[in-house]
This record gives sequence, C-alpha cells and structure tokens, in this order.
Amino acid sequence: MAECAIELEKCSYTYDGQVRALRNVSCTIEAGSWVALVGQNGSGKSTLAKLCNGLLRPQEGRVRINGADIRDRPVGSVAREVGYLFQNPDHQIFAPTVREEIAFGLRNLGFPGEEREQRLRSTLEAFDLTAYADRPPAVLGFGLRRQVTVASLFACGSPILILDEATQGLDWQRSQGLLDRLQERQDVGHTILFITHDMRLVAERANRVMVLHQGELLAEGPVRKILSRPHLLARASVSPPPVTHLSQLLRPWGMKGDSLTVEDFYLEYVALLAEREGV
Ligand SMILES: Nc1ncnc2c1ncn2[C@@H]1O[C@H](COP(=O)(O)OP(=O)(O)OP(=O)(O)O)[C@@H](O)[C@H]1O
Ligand SMILES: [Mg+2]
Repeated sequence: MAECAIELEKCSYTYDGQVRALRNVSCTIEAGSWVALVGQNGSGKSTLAKLCNGLLRPQEGRVRINGADIRDRPVGSVAREVGYLFQNPDHQIFAPTVREEIAFGLRNLGFPGEEREQRLRSTLEAFDLTAYADRPPAVLGFGLRRQVTVASLFACGSPILILDEATQGLDWQRSQGLLDRLQERQDVGHTILFITHDMRLVAERANRVMVLHQGELLAEGPVRKILSRPHLLARASVSPPPVTHLSQLLRPWGMKGDSLTVEDFYLEYVALLAEREGV
C-alpha cells in the first residue's frame, strides 16, 4: 500500500469558539503526490494547511504526518517534515535582510554552520536573489518578496511542501519557474499540497484534487474526474479551465468532456475528425 504523507482524521477547527472553519474533515495525501486544494474564499483551505504543519491544532480529530500523530510536537519539529508557504508573504517574512530571512529557517532546522552557508549561497543563486541578499525584503516588490519566501521554503528541503496560493500575483514566467521547481521535488518523491484558485494550473500540474466547501470536504479524487463534474465545481464556486468547459459543450458532438489541457483537447478533437472522415 502507498505510504501516507498527510492524514487528517475527523478534524474540526473553530476560531475563537465562534467561526467554524473546518468540520469533520478526513483525508489522506499519498506520499509523492501533487494534490491541489481548491474551494471558494473562506472555505477553510488555509486553516486546513495550518493544521497540517501544526501552526493550528484541531479541537477535534487527529493529524498524522508520515503516520505519526503531531499533537504533542512543537511546530519547529514538524517543520523538518512539512514546509509551509504562507498565503501572504508579509506574514512569513520578518528578518531584516533577504540573507537572514533564508538563514533563519536553516538555523531553526539545525543545519550546521558550513552546510547552512552552502545551502544559503546555492539558494540565493538558484532563485536569482544574490543581488538582493543584503537588502531588506520590505523594500522589494511583491514578486520578489514572494520569491524570498519560496526560496526559504526550498532551502530547508522538507519532503512535504504546502503552498498557499504561491503563484498569486506572479507573472507567467515566475509562476512556471516555481511550478517546474515543484515538479523537480515531486520527481524525487516529495509530496505537494498546493492551494490555488487557478484551475488551469490544477489541470496541468496536479494528480488529485480536494474540494472544500464551507469547511467540509465536498469531493476528492483524480483531477480528470473532479474537473469533469461541473455541478460539483459550481457548488464550490470553482469553474473548470475554459478548455475543459469547451470539451463539455462539445459532448453532443462526440467529445468526452474531460480535456484538461489544450494539447489534450487537440489530440482528441483531431482523432474525432479523422474518424468521421474515415482517414
Ligand atoms: N484568524 C482568524 N480568526 C477568525 N476567523 C478566521 C481566522 N482565519 C480565518 N478565519 C475564518 O475561517 C474561515 C476559513 O478561513 P480560511 O482562511 O481557512 O479560508 P480560505 O479557504 O483559505 O479562504 P481564501 O480563499 O480567502 O484564502 C473563514 O470564515 C474565515 O473568515
Ligand atoms: Mg486562504
């Protein structure tokens, strides 16, 4: 059986005894998978993410990371296994310089001096941040501040990565660069939980999708299966990528209605035309 990286068992979370953000959520995220977490604003995505890294503790239920209950573990210890990118970079950044921001996480995880320096240097280079190393993150633009938080996350090398709307506010090139880096992590067996409102990105990159609605898990399954259920998505205020919608409109003409990418659509459509023309 596949190993389970993250497991929530009947988890509920209420803020200040008043706002019920998650109700009785159970889910498992397989090690090595890329899971997208989607749902309307306020559906509980960020709350779920924070339960997974111990920043919030469920009032009911259990969270297991790599099979072990994290109830009694401090956040710093969970961080060795779970790296978390905050939805808002300004909630994550607090050091006076870019260099110190990235070094902080490495120090916290206990990397010895020499390895820390080496990881710091290679991360600054890999993320094109060397020129900004001694600048205060606060003076950088949004895209660069996001880049600093992503760099901190990658520097630590935690095998489970949770990213909360990581590509929001990034241009296409930066988004694709980040997604490619995540892909590299997945290729070496790391697990990715990716929160986003961008369904095109879900279609192109994720293996599975979890849909939250008003704090409850409405559905979970392979991307193709979930994205081809328009009524389910509409209930969660999520719209499928335009190409999936188009293929659904063309169902009466023989399309299956579950194209995830333009390439997918093109191949199915051309095959359909060829069949009709008896080629
Ligand atoms: N610190 C907090 N104190 C009180 N209520 C909160 C707090 N954080 C979130 N909430 C509430 O909990 C619910 C779930 O919020 P959460 O941030 O988890 O949703 P989300 O799906 O991440 O939304 P978004 O797409 O806007 O980021 C919402 O009703 C929200 O207003
Ligand atoms: Mg959120």
